[in-house]
Amino acid sequence: MANFQDYHGLPQFRQAVAKFMGRTRGNRVCFDPARIVMSGGATGAHEVTAFCLADPGDAFLVPTPYYAGFDRDLKWRTGVELVPVICKSSNNFKLTRKALEAAFEKGKEQNIKIKGLLVTNPSNPLGTIMDKETLTTLVSFINEKHIHLISDEIYASTVFCHPSFISIAEIIEDANIECNRNLIHIVYSLSKDMGFPGFRVGIIYSYNDEVVNCARKMSSFGLVSSQTQYLIASMLSDDEFVDKFVVESAKRLAKRYGIFCRGLAQVGIKCLQSNAGLFLWMDLRCLLRKQTFDEEMKLWKVIIHQVKINISPGVSFHCSEPGWFRVCYANMDDRDVEVSLTRIRAFVRRNKAEMVAAKNRCSRRNLRLSFSFRSLDDFLISPHSSITHSPIVKATTC
Ligand SMILES: Cc1ncc(COP(=O)(O)O)c(C=O)c1O
Repeated sequence: MANFQDYHGLPQFRQAVAKFMGRTRGNRVCFDPARIVMSGGATGAHEVTAFCLADPGDAFLVPTPYYAGFDRDLKWRTGVELVPVICKSSNNFKLTRKALEAAFEKGKEQNIKIKGLLVTNPSNPLGTIMDKETLTTLVSFINEKHIHLISDEIYASTVFCHPSFISIAEIIEDANIECNRNLIHIVYSLSKDMGFPGFRVGIIYSYNDEVVNCARKMSSFGLVSSQTQYLIASMLSDDEFVDKFVVESAKRLAKRYGIFCRGLAQVGIKCLQSNAGLFLWMDLRCLLRKQTFDEEMKLWKVIIHQVKINISPGVSFHCSEPGWFRVCYANMDDRDVEVSLTRIRAFVRRNKAEMVAAKNRCSRRNLRLSFSFRSLDDFLISPHSSITHSPIVKATTC
């Protein structure tokens, strides 16, 4: 086990991962172990893919809101840019051809060479999945523009209720859909579907031989240790365990999702309807005194400091509209679920009441509304404020 395994990886590891990828896509599609390239998590997989497909200064289109880590993974060391494709709440943040065309044109106007489109399906942070029509639109769009499509499918197995997940792999197998397969690449990882982010098992699955060859050589910079490869090969080859795990995980996610949605609904807070992921997309627009990102950040800071809960603000996912927050609900025990829901509900009730009172006061005095959260200013001006620059901070509960 301690012997060095070269960048091809153990055959049994690649076989087991290919089989698991098929399993998490309902066995409707097969994956070829020869196309499995390993990397240090999906993080490494994205970087290697970007290195393979683009030159510094080139760009990828990315629908918003998107996983904040993409700004690091695809840009930092490659010199690649990301061009946002603006998706809006008016159609539940669904990706449309019109939005894709607009982003592509904007890139062209700025003399940016668009090399590809990166989508996350199921979506982080939305928790939604793409339907067949949307996936077909993507495939025809990238074929027309002759750009690459990278589909990040690391949440494939987190789909906890209908409709079921459709992988880009299924779309390109469809004989009725025309597609140049050399343009299609899947990024996968065991970080979410198996809950193994610490093992750093990432996968690039490309239908393009040149990308497979190049990525395999580059994977030397982020190999999965042989010890982990043995462990994963053995674990994923156990069909009984895998089946049980996948079913039980989906059941628990569905339960948590229900508890949170119902718990938040008690105080009139809505969430985007979703059926996947380890989180939900919560609409707190009603708590913003103005619909701006400044107000969103202020609200986030108040929630961190008063409620002592860290929910990620939409701005950190490049959301085009203020007031949305991502709540991660999977990685906590039942007691913490109750504690956090109780705190959020109390906070919402208090602030709604204060907003109503402030509105009444203002309308009585015929003044412009100038409500501010109680204690907010204390936090913002305190020299002892522990607010970090990054929203990705772990707030401890006390
Ligand atoms: C959409 C998406 N892609 C990639 C990653 C990185 O995953 P990994 O831990 O496998 O590097 C994450 C992690 O949150 C993610 O949400």
